Amino acid sequence: MNDSPLVLIAGDSHTEKAVSARWPKARIGGSFRDLSLLEYVASGIRPDLVVVDVSLSPRGESLEAWAARFKAAYPSSTVTVLDGSTNRMREDVSEVPGSTTVLASQTVVIWSPKGGVGKTFLSANLACAASMATGGNAVLLDMDLCSGDVAVHLDLLDGPTITDLIPVLSDIRPEGLEKYARRHGPSGLNVICGPRQPELSDLVTPEVVKSVLALSAKRWGLTYVDTAPDMASDVVGECVDAATKIVLVTTQDVASLKQCRSAMDIFTKLGIPGSAMAVVVNRASKDSLMPLPKVEEFLGVELAGAIPEDRKAAERSVFEGRPLALLSKSEISEAVWSILDHLSPGLGRTTSMKKTPRRRGLFW
Ligand SMILES: Nc1ncnc2c1ncn2[C@@H]1O[C@H](COP(=O)(O)OP(=O)(O)O)[C@@H](O)[C@H]1O
Ligand SMILES: [Mg+2]
Repeated sequence: MNDSPLVLIAGDSHTEKAVSARWPKARIGGSFRDLSLLEYVASGIRPDLVVVDVSLSPRGESLEAWAARFKAAYPSSTVTVLDGSTNRMREDVSEVPGSTTVLASQTVVIWSPKGGVGKTFLSANLACAASMATGGNAVLLDMDLCSGDVAVHLDLLDGPTITDLIPVLSDIRPEGLEKYARRHGPSGLNVICGPRQPELSDLVTPEVVKSVLALSAKRWGLTYVDTAPDMASDVVGECVDAATKIVLVTTQDVASLKQCRSAMDIFTKLGIPGSAMAVVVNRASKDSLMPLPKVEEFLGVELAGAIPEDRKAAERSVFEGRPLALLSKSEISEAVWSILDHLSPGLGRTTSMKKTPRRRGLFW
């Protein structure tokens, strides 16, 4: 590398100081707090060197994977990671072995044509698990605009909601969403809550929903969307359009399964590939007349997972605003982590919460 490299920095003033100390003649091309902004600027100026603070989490991928991707795009750039706690530079991190976990940014929409099957329960649990696995790089959007209860499931009763975002939406940058998201303390999950009163839901037009989904996918690696059980709604339509994965939630009862199957048929007719759909059985019970292999046969798909029925545990978790995914010893928690692994392969491995190897489920 030449004496006065052109440097892009992702970090804070501490990172900038460390760069000036290490490369006194460096030409600083820009300093950012966000890796995607850095990537955007890099496409114009082709830096010799990129210095990233180790505490920055790229969206939906490990820092090593981000560096490997960056290097593939800009082979002449060196990527160096600064560990602020030791002030050590780890050079050319993209060549560190093990940089294999590449996760594209995902928008996972949890939907079902039926109410009461556990959409919100699954959304809250899945998003909390994802947040824990990614160090807070996940958001849950409550798009059940008339009767959303994500805030109840996560005990987030005060603070901004999606309606506060509406006046600023046309000017806001992805990072600006943080001001309108609430933090679920135990998991670090970011949550954009639905309107406080149902009558305000009309303000949240499909265009608003579309913008929020797009901004959120730019700001966070993993976006989870809880929805209303309404196939005809334009808001659900926008969510489905933005989804990289649609998770259909069903129970084992025949009515729910039939509705699930016709929803899948409709999605297929709309051109959504089977690989973009996943089915989860909630409140699964061994005593059902439709055991899980039969459910798979009926729906013609392999299930992404099954969450056992446990009314007491589920009720308590909602009452306390602490999703069961936060617990390590719970059958529901294990099922949720296994579903996360299925939807975002590799994510479960990065957490100490998930110690057991993936197995097919409790009821197969
Ligand atoms: N696996 C489960 N076992 C027992 N009760 C559950 C389970 N999942 C959800 N519930 C309960 O079912 C009810 C409906 O769940 P909810 O997530 O609000 O459904 P939806 O969002 O589809 O309308 C809630 O009271 C919740 O506590
Ligand atoms: Mg709900």
